[in-house]
Parts: sequence; structure tokens; C-alpha cells
Amino acid sequence: MSKKPSIILLLALCATAVAGTPADAVQWSSYTVDHSQSIAGGLAYTTQVSLSSDALQEYGPSFQQLSVQVTPETAQRLHVRVTPVGQQRWEVPESLVPRPGAEASLSSEQLSYDVLDLAEGHPFALHVIRKADGANIFDTRGHRFLFKDQYIELTTALPADADVYGLGEFTNPKGLMLPRDGTKLALWARDISCANEYANLYGSHPFYIQTNADGSSHGVLLLNSNGMDVSANATALTFKVIGGLVDLYFFTGPTPEEVVRQYHAVIGRPALPPYWSLGLHQSKWGYSNLEYMQEVVANYSAAGLPLETIWSDIDYMHNRFRNAEFDPHRYPVHAMSSFVEGLNSKGQHWVPILDAGVAVSNGYSAYEEGGKDNIWIRDHSGEETFVGQVWPGPAVFPDYMSAPGVAPWLQKKIQRFHAQVPWSGLWLDMNEASNFCSGMNCKPDVAVASNMHWLDMQVPKDGNISVLYKMLSTCVMKCEQPEPSNSLAFPPYAIQNYKGPGQPREAPLSSNAISPTAMHADGSLEYDAHNLYGAAMAKSHYEAAVEVTRKRPFLVSRSTFPGAGRYTAHWTGDNAGNWENLFYSIAGVINSNIWGMPMVGADICGFIDATQDGDPWLNDNRLPDAEYEELCNRWAQAGAFYTFSRNHMGYPARHHEFYRWPSVAAAAGKAYGLRYQLLTYIYSSLFLAHSSGGTVLRPLFFTSPGDTAARHAQQQWMVGDGVLVSPVVTPGTVSISPYFTPGAWYSTWDYSRIHIEGDVGQAVQLDVPLGDIAVHYRGGTIVPLQQYAVVTRDVRVSPVTLVVALPSGTAAEDAAAGVVPPYAAEEFCRSSRQENADRLVACGVLFMDGEEDAPVVTSDNSLQAQFVTVAASDARSGSVTSRVIAAGGDAAAKLQIAAVHVLGVSSSSDAAHLAVRVNGVEVSANDVEFDGATGVLKVSGLQLAAGQSLELHWST
Ligand code: NOJ
Repeated sequence: MSKKPSIILLLALCATAVAGTPADAVQWSSYTVDHSQSIAGGLAYTTQVSLSSDALQEYGPSFQQLSVQVTPETAQRLHVRVTPVGQQRWEVPESLVPRPGAEASLSSEQLSYDVLDLAEGHPFALHVIRKADGANIFDTRGHRFLFKDQYIELTTALPADADVYGLGEFTNPKGLMLPRDGTKLALWARDISCANEYANLYGSHPFYIQTNADGSSHGVLLLNSNGMDVSANATALTFKVIGGLVDLYFFTGPTPEEVVRQYHAVIGRPALPPYWSLGLHQSKWGYSNLEYMQEVVANYSAAGLPLETIWSDIDYMHNRFRNAEFDPHRYPVHAMSSFVEGLNSKGQHWVPILDAGVAVSNGYSAYEEGGKDNIWIRDHSGEETFVGQVWPGPAVFPDYMSAPGVAPWLQKKIQRFHAQVPWSGLWLDMNEASNFCSGMNCKPDVAVASNMHWLDMQVPKDGNISVLYKMLSTCVMKCEQPEPSNSLAFPPYAIQNYKGPGQPREAPLSSNAISPTAMHADGSLEYDAHNLYGAAMAKSHYEAAVEVTRKRPFLVSRSTFPGAGRYTAHWTGDNAGNWENLFYSIAGVINSNIWGMPMVGADICGFIDATQDGDPWLNDNRLPDAEYEELCNRWAQAGAFYTFSRNHMGYPARHHEFYRWPSVAAAAGKAYGLRYQLLTYIYSSLFLAHSSGGTVLRPLFFTSPGDTAARHAQQQWMVGDGVLVSPVVTPGTVSISPYFTPGAWYSTWDYSRIHIEGDVGQAVQLDVPLGDIAVHYRGGTIVPLQQYAVVTRDVRVSPVTLVVALPSGTAAEDAAAGVVPPYAAEEFCRSSRQENADRLVACGVLFMDGEEDAPVVTSDNSLQAQFVTVAASDARSGSVTSRVIAAGGDAAAKLQIAAVHVLGVSSSSDAAHLAVRVNGVEVSANDVEFDGATGVLKVSGLQLAAGQSLELHWST
């Protein structure tokens, strides 16, 4: 770490700066370095820089002096804050993203990065490199840097052959890789269908991962909640931000998964969802009454499909409008309560929706109490309550970020709701926050108020009131429009705020949102805090739900910001029922994992039943029935491998519950059959993300970051370290050529093996008739598999089969091939590989706790076991051993390991001489099965408590 205060060091660094910087490029920097000063007691220092030449004066003057605070926080994490001297600026509140700060006693030798070019008298540039190979982590040299009140411009160089991932939330038609053609991606939370390509969607995540040609990766977070555009071209990436600070975190990886873990250590590691939430969820906007919902539940059961949770959209609400209040006619409380009691007794669940806006409605307790508690977001003067509109009447918005009374208000509201009908989770919608009107001081408009008569209508049984619903998102209020000179409503730089197909890209910030001029209780402006609404709502609901239920909450939020994953799961929003959107969902769920929300899914079979350009309300441009059935078949199978697996559809969409077509029911039955066997594996993967950070759904190239072809394998994803899903995402397709990175892969269906030799992957042709999906175990993993049951409660306690998928190469060979082996980031696995470099090593994890869903996981209430297999390089003999980290709660006692399947045993092994010993005792030949042709060894008849240690040896 180049600590600056010493003069000698400064001179040396000047030399570096001049040598490494093209002279013509230097002139672009607007600031010159004045002096540096170390901060007592550590490696941190501050550099002051002064404005030397200004540009883009039309966006206002640049600040004269900036202070650049450089803080090495860990060996892999550097924090750099740039603040105008003497100015108080808006920044993301610590209450939402608590900053971890620097590790104590960090020495400069430990740091994996270095900061160059902060030399006195020289143009200011931020230049961070990775020490090991000198690669640039961030390099602003030669690029303009501007810092004004409402405009910050910051550019870093990007190598042309590097790939960039992670910014969002937006739908990228090309998949996961960010475009390098200069397309501006706006970050400004917005309620708009995610079928719109490149539109700023519900969440804002100013974080990216850069993967260089050789696979080495690093990450950059710009911790800033203001509206911004980000774009990348062949040589550079640029942030254009309309407020806040330059608050940067750099993560040196060097594997992509390590980058993500390092990132989550700053924003907070994800919440662990309750086990039951891994079951299949069914939802529809338009279950018009309780009987309808009951029918859906009964139909699932009749089809033999494992429905875990039925959801209620806004249909349950009193007048389809009052959050947390039941419509007395269509969803009477007493009937709902006995319905949900019945569900719970069978191990099933109910989850209702809550919208961000609270209806302005006399006699509505949430509204009346909130007024008394003074919790609503205020108008620009801070005096009046800000009124907007949702579904489609006047609404006010709780200030979850800073109103002191909001926590008790919310707790009371959801306590009452829970006492009436015990929900198992809460669905947080419209929390961008969405507002159907634009402007300030909105008042009901009598001229269009007649539109509201739909509120009084009974929904006909066939649910066909689409014409009325179509009016829903039309503003029926009259609002004052801010003057063009209002710089909050119309900042000098207009970001690429999307409004809809065919509309200009630079919609005002107030479009479909709370006015940026509105104010929070602590005086902060919606202009600055807009992108935080969803995260603040999620945090408040998490805390209230823990108080009310004393259980681990299950929340699903549409709008998110870095750190939201500590509280909530996510779904990707209003997608469309077509093949493109099935494909988009893959990048959608992976991105959410990168952002710290591993529990995520897309609406299976599509929310809007139209192609992107069609009008869903007119049933325009739909897929023909037969093709839609085929799409839903393929999507049911792919969606079975999202972590959060929910079939949901919009109001006018064709019904697509899986039982609607026998072919789809069969496809779902097959895929969910496997998913349910893998529930504990998925849960264990989520537990790892919860405890150490990192992804669960991740791109295949994370297993082999240097393999550039793997980066283009965008129709597949890994679930945890051990399972690869390769769905069909195009029509009329019964054969696919998914990509496999080097090593061994085994079909989950028949254990057949694919072996990819060498150090690059390969596409392998597979037949996947309609109703089938390709799913493979990765060699080098041990996957706990359980028995299928229709509710997760019963899967949870069923006997475990450990599937040991042997790698094809030794630990040393894997390392030489540049692959990232499974569980590479887990110490137990890493050390096993190091100690057994010339052998085959496989690792796995099993996490389980009890049905009480305790809010906090401890070693007293959970079972945590690690498994390692070490086998001879010819795979003729080997062992499976367990290390029990925690054996608390009833899970440890209840869960039994009943079988071990070893895949990839040498086919030349002699079945007749096969001997298996478990914990020192020879297993009877009747319980040992070996198929030389496939190399599969099956040991059954075991009755080992999962909380006790296991040692199995096989030899031939
Ligand atoms: C918008 C949500 O994205 C969607 O999932 C929901 O069905 C509708 N709001 C109605 O509540």
C-alpha cells in the first residue's frame, strides 16, 4: 500500500504517474493533488485535491476542493471516499447499509492491492492495481472526473477483452454480460414491466464484477443511492450520478465468487429463508374470491403436485385497495382464517401481498393510525402529507427510512393482520415506490373520479373485468407540476429514466414515482432517498415480522438496494409469457444472487400474457395456445430450479397453474420431484450464502472463469457448487448443446457421466424431449438428497442419501486446469484438497434445523455437517468422512443418513472384491451394489444419525 505522507515516497509515485500516463490524457483531469495526510493509527490517509479546470458548466460548477479518503479495510477490500471539503452531502444511511470499517492491525504487506498516482502537484486520478499481477482494478487516468452538486462523472478504464457483470436492475436481452456499446443503463427504481429491455427496473445496484481475459476478477461498488446512468464501451466504464458522494469499495477477488463474498461482507450477508419457502408457490392477481383460491389448492392436490403455498394478490384487500384488510364479501375473515388453518395443518402456507402506498380512506385503521403517528412522507415544504395514487385511489406513503413512529405503527398493523389470519410470509409490492400520478399536491380529480367506481364492483366469477382494471394505473388525481426551474424535479443532467416503449428515454424523475421534492422525517429528500424505499420497507417489515411471529421472516420484495438481501427475497417482477422472458429470467435470478439476494425467482410461465409489444389488457400478441402450453412446460421445469419457485400471473393473463394441462403437470411433477429431493441441498447452499456471503444461483463460468466460452453459456446456471441446470428455452427444441466446463458431470436422472478433458470446456449434445430437463451433478461435490413428499415438512425429516460425485482429476490437476473446484472458498474443503493434491477430492455441506424456523441460526438449534471424500486417483478406493460442526435442535437427532452413492468409481473395479466399511463395521454385501459399467457404487441400509460422525471406506 503506497501511503502518501512521506516526501520520498511521493516523489517516487510522481515518477510512476508520469511514466504510466499519456500526457494528452492527463489534461482531462479537473483536479490537482494538493497534499496527503495519514490518519493516525492505521494505513488510511486523506488526500486533498483542488479544482484546476472545470467542464460541463451547464450542470453547475464543480466543487473547488475535495477530500479523498483512502482506507484499506481488509486484505481484499479498499474503501475510497471522495467528499467536497466543508460540505455536508447526502449519503446512504448507516441504518440501511452499516459500514463495516477497517480491520484492526492490518499491515500493508497483507494488502492484495495498491493505490498509485495520488502524487502532489499532479492531476488527480484514482489508480488501484492488484499487487499480484499489476492488473488495474480501477483506473481513472486520462478520463474526466467531475464532482458538482447535481452531477458526478467518474470513468475507469476497461480492457476490451474483459467482461463486466452485475449492474442493474435491468433486462439485458443478451444475458448476463453488460453491453459494451455505450448503452446508458439508468439506476432509478421504477415500476415497469421487466419485459422492457434496458429499462431501469425495480431495484438499483451500483455494483459490478470485472472478469479479465485470464479469469481474474474484481468488484467495484459505488455506494450511492442517487439516480445515475452507467455505461461501458470498449475501453471504459462511466458513472454519471446526480447527487451524493463518490463512495467506492474495491474487492480484489480474484475469483468471481470471492468477489461476491467480499461484496456481501460490506452490504450484509443474505437472510436465510425458512425451509418451507423452498416449496412450490402459486399465485395470481385475480383470484377473485376465497372459493376460487380453494379450488386452486384442491386442483393441485388432485393433480398430485406439491403445492406448498398459495398467495393472495390485491384481490383479498377490502376494495382491492386497503392493505392488510380483508374484503368482507369475497374474503371474509373467519372463512380465510379457517382456510389458512386448514392449510397449515397440512403443512401448507399462505402469503398475502402488501403494497407500499396506504389508501387514504376514512375508517381504515392503518391510514388513521399512521396519520396520528405522523409517519407519512411529506410534501416539499415538509408541512403537508404527500399524497399520490395507487390502485387507483389517493394514497400516502409510510416513511420507513426515518419516521420514528413507523416501527410501532407497522408492528401494530401486521400484528392485527396476523391475528386475523396467520400469514407465513409477506409479499412487498409497488415499493419503488410506485405512484400512478406524477407531481405534487395531488387532489382527487372529479372529472375522472368516476373511474373509481370499479372499487365498488363485485368481481364476476370468470374474473373478466379487464376493461376496468385497465384503468387502474391511470392517474385520477390532479397534481401540481413543478416549475421547470425546480432542480430536484428536473436536475440539469437527465438520467435515462424509462417510461415505456416508444417514449423518450429521459422521463422526469417523478414519472410514476413519489415526487423527488417530497421529504422524509429526518429532512432528507426523496430525490436522494428514492432508490432506498424498497430496502427500507423490507427492513421494517423484517423487524416487525420477527416481533409478531418470533419466527424467521419470509419476505419477497420487488424493489431492492444493496443490503436488502439481509431482510428479503426478491422476484424479478412483471415479465411476459414468451420464450425471450424465460431466457431473461436466467440473468435476472443470477444478478439477484450477485446482489446478495440468493432467494429469487421469476414469475413462472410469465406475468403478462403477451409479447413485449402487445397490449396485455387486449390479449394482444399472445403466443398461440399450443405454443403457450409448450412454453409453460419448459418454464415449469426451469423454474423448478430457481431458489424461489413461484408460478404467478397477471390479471388478464391466461391461467397457467401447472395442473391446467396434463403435459405441463407431468413436466412439473418430474422437475419438482427432483427439486424436492434437493431441498436440503438448496437450503444448505442458502445457509452458506447466509453465513459466508456468495451466490447460490450462479453462472457456469464461475467454475472456470478463464474459459471465455463458458461466459457465453448463458442458458444455464449452477445451483450452489454441485448442480448444473441446462433448460430448454426455445420453442420446438428437443435437443440442446449445453456447455460443460472441465471435469466430470453426472446426470441427476441416471448418473450417466460426461467427462470433459483438458482445460477448456465443451458443448455436449443432449436429447431433452418435452417434459425433460438436463440437470447434472458436478464432479467434486457431495450432495445430500432426500425423499420426495408433497410438503416440505415431510421432505425435511426424510432419510438422506449422500451422492458423492467424484471429480475426474486430482486436486492438483484441477488447479492446473484453472478450474475453481466446488466449495473452493470453504476452509475444510480447501485444506482437504491441499493435503490430498494427488487424489480425487469431493466436498459437501448439510445444514438443517427444526420446524420452529428460529429467527437466528445458532449451533444450538441447527445441524451443520461437512463431508469430504478422498479417493485414490484411479477411484478404486476411497473414503467419505463427516465433520459435525453443530448438532443442535431436533434436526440433528431426527435426520438420518441412509445411503451413500459414489459416482465415478473406476469401472475396472472388481465388484466381487468390493468391500465397504462404515464406522469400522463391514457393510453386508446385500447392501452394496456396484455397477461396473456406469461406475456407480451404492451403499444402502445405513441408519446413521446425521449429527454423528461418519467414516465410510470402499476398496476393490
Ligand atoms: C405488480 C406486481 O409486480 C404483480 O406481481 C402484482 O400481481 C400486481 N402488482 C398486482 O398486485
